[in-house]
Amino acid sequence: MVGRVWVVEIGAKPALSTPAEVATFNSDINAKKNYLRVLTTICPHLGCSVNLDAAGTGFLCPCHAATFTVDGIKAGPDNVAPRDMDSLVWQIAPANHNRIQVKFQAFKASERTSIAI
Ligand code: FES
Repeated sequence: MVGRVWVVEIGAKPALSTPAEVATFNSDINAKKNYLRVLTTICPHLGCSVNLDAAGTGFLCPCHAATFTVDGIKAGPDNVAPRDMDSLVWQIAPANHNRIQVKFQAFKASERTSIAI
C-alpha cells in the first residue's frame, strides 16, 4: 500500500555503522520511538489529509480543524479527532542506513483506537 506520511525527528540520529547495529536498533522499539515518529497523513476523524500548521509546530486538519502536536498527539479540549494520529511501523533500511522503510497502513476513521483496515 502506498500513502503519504509525516516523519518527525524526536531525538538524535543514532550512530549506526554496521548491519549488526542496524539490526539491534531496528529490534528496539523504545530506541526507535525516541528517534522518529512516522505518522500517516490521514486524519483519524473522517480521513482528510492532515498538514503542518502555519507555525510548523503541530498538525492541523483542514476539514474540521482537528489539531495534533508535532508528535501526533491529539491537542485541545474541543478536538473532533477521536484519537491521536496513527503511527506507522518503520525501520532503518538495512542496505542504506540513511533511509527508513515504512509499512504504510490505513486505519478506520472515527474510532477511539487505531484499527487497521
Ligand atoms: S477529517 Fe480531519 S478533522 Fe474531520
